[in-house]
Amino acid sequence: MQYRKLGRTGLKVSEVSLGAMAFGRWIDEEASVKVLDAALDAGINLVDTADVYGKGMDLSDPLQTGESETILGRLMKGRREKIILATKVHGRVGNEPNDAGQSRYHIFRAIENSLRRLNTDYVDLYQVHRFDPETPLDETLGALDDLVRQGKVRYIGCSNFAAWQIAKAHGISAVRQLHRFESVQPEYSLITRNIEPELVPFALSESVGIIVYSPLGRGILSGKYRPGEAPPADSRLAAGEQRLKALIGNERSLAIVDIIRPLAERRGLSLAQYALAWVLSRPGITSAILGASKPEHITSAAGRWDERLSQEELDEIDRLTAHLNNIGKSLVKQ
Ligand SMILES: NC(=O)c1ccc[n+]([C@@H]2O[C@H](COP(=O)([O-])OP(=O)(O)OC[C@H]3O[C@@H](n4cnc5c(N)ncnc54)[C@H](OP(=O)(O)O)[C@@H]3O)[C@@H](O)[C@H]2O)c1
Repeated sequence: MQYRKLGRTGLKVSEVSLGAMAFGRWIDEEASVKVLDAALDAGINLVDTADVYGKGMDLSDPLQTGESETILGRLMKGRREKIILATKVHGRVGNEPNDAGQSRYHIFRAIENSLRRLNTDYVDLYQVHRFDPETPLDETLGALDDLVRQGKVRYIGCSNFAAWQIAKAHGISAVRQLHRFESVQPEYSLITRNIEPELVPFALSESVGIIVYSPLGRGILSGKYRPGEAPPADSRLAAGEQRLKALIGNERSLAIVDIIRPLAERRGLSLAQYALAWVLSRPGITSAILGASKPEHITSAAGRWDERLSQEELDEIDRLTAHLNNIGKSLVKQ
């Protein structure tokens, strides 16, 4: 495993990180511990979760959130120092008007709830989950800055932000001398390339770390889904994940899998290994958050995750997929 600096900070994070969205949502604690053990054994040091991850995501029930943090909190016991812990705030966690968003009020309550569930005194990277048009950025950044100064949070980042939104936030941080967003967490994979025209050049210019989610297109790029065939019974598609349904519902997604399949075979890599190698070969990417619901998802990737594609290979993929016109456009509504 190689480690990369998170943007301009001195923090070194593993190129492949672990997403804990499955914990408590699709897999129980017994299965989660096997996934976490495999990740730490393979050299992963960055683990990503969110206050909203849990069964509530599929039940549209904000009161059934937090299982991922709760399970992770129990599993980290005795090994907290081995983990760069990232979590998020924004999503709805209750039915009261202030149980969501990025007001000072909600952020101060949300961090206490996350720390309690995670069974720790501090979060290494606290990320706002998406842009909040209802709260002034000054208010959000002021609250996050206070958390850093209180020692509850070490770095702050954002997720699902456009380049202009981070630029605006950086301007406020500079003028008010507040801690700034050091990382952004967007979706990025061979089938979701909409960050390439704006966000990646911005992040490179401003030394913002890019930690990408869903590098395997929520499992599509493992090749496990084939048109006209039922999804594997133990898969997220079978479990009814709405975002995955939307992504696979776009015919361009499986068309890209068909194009990539022979290229991966030629390289002697599985589709999942190839898709991960592609993300880590692209400019500006700090770390790819692999979602794993089984330890084999980690161990099978780990054997080959130092593989990088050459510029010629990257250009070939661009040429072969150009007609699908997926660069700069999201395949599903964000
Ligand atoms: N900031 C945000 O808004 C946001 C949104 C989404 C995710 N995230 C973060 O990013 C993390 C990763 O997201 P993701 O789970 O969508 O990422 P992903 O890596 O694209 O997809 C993971 C899924 O791919 C399948 N998979 C992985 N390795 C495989 C292999 N070797 N063979 C076959 N199938 C394989 C598994 O599907 P099955 O479980 O179906 O077998 C697994 O659940 C999340 O845990 C979360 O921390 C953030």
